[in-house]
Formats: sequence, C-alpha cells, structure tokens
Amino acid sequence: MPTRPKARGKKIHVELPESTHRKLRVKAALEDISIQGFVADLIARSVSNVVITGEQPASTAQPDAVAEPSAQYAVDLFGRSKPAIAVQRRTSIRSRTAERDALHERYSAALVVNPDLSRSLVSFQSNKTTPFYRWFKFKEAFSHEFVRHILHRFPCGETGAGRILDPFAGAGTTLTTATKEGWHATGIELLPVGTAAMKARLLADTVDPAAFEHELKRIAKLGLRKRAGATYRFRHLRITASAFAPDTEDAISAFMQFHEGIAEPDVRYLFWFAALSVLEDVSYTRKDGQYLRWDSRSERVLRSNFSKGPIPDFRTALLSKLRLMQADIAQRNGGTFSNNVDIINGSCLEQLPALQDASFDLMLTSPPYCNRYDYTRTYALELAFMGYGEKDVTNLRQQLLSATVENKTKREVLSALFRECGREAEYRDCESAFDSQRALQEVLEILREARDARELNNTNIPGMVEHYFFEMNLVIKQLSRVLAPGGRVVMVNDNVQYHGEEVPVDLILSDFAASAGLTVESIWVLSKGKGNSSQQMGAHGRRELRKCVYVWYKPSKQAG
Ligand SMILES: C[S@@+](CC[C@H](N)C(=O)[O-])C[C@H]1O[C@@H](n2cnc3c(N)ncnc32)[C@H](O)[C@@H]1O
Repeated sequence: MPTRPKARGKKIHVELPESTHRKLRVKAALEDISIQGFVADLIARSVSNVVITGEQPASTAQPDAVAEPSAQYAVDLFGRSKPAIAVQRRTSIRSRTAERDALHERYSAALVVNPDLSRSLVSFQSNKTTPFYRWFKFKEAFSHEFVRHILHRFPCGETGAGRILDPFAGAGTTLTTATKEGWHATGIELLPVGTAAMKARLLADTVDPAAFEHELKRIAKLGLRKRAGATYRFRHLRITASAFAPDTEDAISAFMQFHEGIAEPDVRYLFWFAALSVLEDVSYTRKDGQYLRWDSRSERVLRSNFSKGPIPDFRTALLSKLRLMQADIAQRNGGTFSNNVDIINGSCLEQLPALQDASFDLMLTSPPYCNRYDYTRTYALELAFMGYGEKDVTNLRQQLLSATVENKTKREVLSALFRECGREAEYRDCESAFDSQRALQEVLEILREARDARELNNTNIPGMVEHYFFEMNLVIKQLSRVLAPGGRVVMVNDNVQYHGEEVPVDLILSDFAASAGLTVESIWVLSKGKGNSSQQMGAHGRRELRKCVYVWYKPSKQAG
C-alpha cells in the first residue's frame, strides 16, 4: 500500500522503495511534466527509503497537498536541491482533442491490430543471437526477421526482389537482410556507429578467415597490459570521463598498439570494430533510454547504488567477441551481404533531394522516435573511441533528425538546400502541409500554452515536437518522390505523449504521406503498445501509446 504523505508542519515526507528511487532519480531529470505530476506519481508508487520534502505556505497546508498540489514545493530529491517551482492546478490549459479525434476518425479504417507483428519482432531482440547481427548491440534496430517478413509480404516484380531504400539505416538491418534476398539495397545513415556496424557486416563476406585467425592467435598470447611508451590514450568526452577502470584504459591502449600492426586492412578494421563493440560491456555505464546510466563503482560522484553486475576485463571481452566473429565468418555460406549494398554516409534530409525520381520499389525504415532519445549520448563511448570531440558531437546531434530538446530548427539550412537543388516548390508544399495539419497544430498549441504557464519542466519540448514533424514531413515528401509507382513505404514508429497530451505520430505522419500523394494502406498496430512513462502515468493515468508499422502505397497513376 502506498503510504500517504504526512504533512508534518511544513514538511511532507513520502517514502519510496530503493528500486523506485533509482528509476525516478534518472527520470526526474528528464520528464516533461510539472512537479505536480511527478509528486503524484511518487505517491502512487511509494514505499520506503527516500524522503521527499516539500514546503508549502502554512496557510495552504493540507494533508492531501501532495496529491493535489496547489502551492509551492521545494522538492529535494535524493539530496539534490531544486529551486521552488510554482505548481498550479491546470485550470488555464484544458486539453482539447477535437482535431485529433477527427484525424483518428479519418484513418480509423486503416488502423488495424496486426497479430503477425510482435514487439520482439519489431525490435533488436532476436538479432542478439543471430550470427553477424549479434556483433554489435544496436538497441534501436529492428530484427532481420521483421525485414524478411516485410520483403515476403511485398515482393517486387517477377523475381520478387527490386530496389529497396532505408533512409534511417541504423546498423543496416534492412540492407543486409534485403541483399541476401536478392534486393539491391541503399541506406542513408548519419551516425558513424551505425555505418561502422554495416561496414563490419559487409566485410565479413570477403575477409580472409586465415588472416583473421592468425591475428586472433597473436593477440590471444598477449596480456594487453600497459606498455612503456604507449602513445594511444582514450580521448574522453565530458560525459564519458571515468567510464573505465584504469586497467581497462591501459588494455585498450595496448590493444590499439597491437591493432596498428595488423597488416591486412579488413582484419584490422574488424578487430577495431570488435573493440568498439565491447566498450559498453567493459565500462561502468549502461545505455539506458536517453542517457548513460552509471555504475556506483565508477569514480563519478553518484547518488545511486546502481550496479550493472560483473564487468569483464577488456582482454576477456575482446577475445570472446573476436571468437564469436570468427565463428560467424566461418559459417558464411548463407549468401552474401555485400553484393548489392550502397551506403550513403550523411543526413537523409540532405541526401534524399539528390536521389532520382521513382528509383526505389520499396522503402523499409524506422526513423528516430519523437521521444527525446539522444543517440549522441547513448553512443558517446563509441563516438569518443571513434575520435569525436565535444564539438563534433554537438554538430552531429544537431544534424540528426530533431528528437531531443537540444535540437534547434534546421528550417533555414533546409530551405536553402532545397532551393539550391531546385526543389523550392516541394519545400513550400511541405510548409503548407505542415501548417494545415490541424491535429499537430492542436498539440503544439497546447504544449506552448503549457510551456508559457510553466507547466513543462523543459521549455524546449514544443520546439522539439515541431522540428520533428517538420523534418519528417520533408523526408516523407522525398520518399514519395523517389518511390516508383506501385511501390510502398513501410515505417516503424511509436506514438508519444507529453504533458499528458497524446501525440498521434502514426496519424500525423500518415496524413503527411497522404499530402505527399501516397495512399495510407494500413497502420498496423502492435497488439501490445508501449506504456507511458511512470510520471505520465501518475499524473495522467495509464494510457497505452500505439507502436505501429505504417504501410503507404504509391498509386500507379497519381491523382490529379
Ligand atoms: C531507429 S534507428 C534505425 C535502426 C535500423 N532500422 C536498424 O535496424 O538498425 C534510427 C536511425 O536514424 C538515424 N538518423 C537520425 N537522423 C538521421 C538523419 N538525419 N539522416 C540519416 N539517419 C539519421 C539514427 O542515427 C539511427 O541510426
């Protein structure tokens, strides 16, 4: 039973269990709702161990003050003081949903639960044990089985295989699965960690197994300990400092020295990639949603007692990864990855306008979700290892599709780019489709009002949502142009919720697709959606957010 908060004089105490304490410590820094929602959520989950103190003027003190806060609270979470935040009842901002309801109505026939699709199929889950795909844990990937499922569902022409594009290629699951099935695959990806994973999988086709084994035997004889005169030093980013124990840094340094001496370039690359792939395992961090989560054994000053469990030493982890890679390479008889794959390093916002009309038969992709997930943070260790400095990371984050509160508008840059490549009219079409998407404007208006009433704990949320949809709209317009008539776009994405307002990403993006000349064939809903965040749940009740796969079709003859 949750303990009710006790108002003792001016202090209110709520007790939480240790596990909740840990979760909320991270989430408290991230969520987008007012402290009101946060405290309500704490109460809903309260048990023991953490004390939250709230102060309110004696005149308004009441036993239920935390459940229905109407005054000022100074919430001291886990020892971290925050300035007092004015908490008002939400009287001014009334949720209105008429436009979203109308949009739902418009697409209700397309919205169908697809029992063939499960969350594990549409996630990295099964790749964890699949040869080649298991080399690097790219948690945001979908599974190769999902790709195969879609390829078989939408075969192309007489052979069943045509030209496929993934504009947000990630670690390249679409590309390498499709090429094995005879497709010509093109991928666009901006995050170097993703392109490195693709390159490694492609090299697996051609690398000389004997040369690989030779180097593996050589490194297995080494202790990988600190060497006199070692020149390599792991160049940390601010957010990765102290991620490794000193012995681990020494071992990485010794490895880099060894790696420079590998004569065969493909083997050298794969060894380097093996090292990159074990960085998280041998560190005090764990990729966790929007951030790196820190183990209490690190030197960083932390207030949590999080333990990620046993941390292998670098040498053990590396050798085990290399042996796994060797085993996969030894059984590469199931067709090749590399025959027909083109990888474009760059932003699809900039690269798509350069592609020819009607040059693809199918698109299968999963863009970043509008969920504040920051790839440059979760992959910070790998980026640092790749030589990215602070400025490089900031630039990369800004170039990625806007999905974090740090992203600034790209409108000026994109407008100039579209003008330069003679696509000004398409850009203007997108602007007007964006401005006239009423459900989106409804959400944006509510979020801006909430921001102005200081009810959002991050004032950039309305901007992030706006940039996300503006950019996705441009992408969709280009996808429609480069898709051949009779072709399809298949896209995986999640709906999100901010300030208790559901953002129907599936419907809004589908409506953009319709504006761009595509037919919204289906919006397949996964039977089990994604729960909303703990705070949102506390403040706004449990509401399932749809996780969907959209299928948009390009009619053979475009209307009009
Ligand atoms: C959900 S992941 C895709 C995962 C992929 N389906 C797979 O199986 O590996 C989204 C990807 O979009 C990439 N991305 C974000 N902004 C981009 C942009 N402007 N251009 C190209 N790729 C981008 C991210 O780096 C990330 O790898």
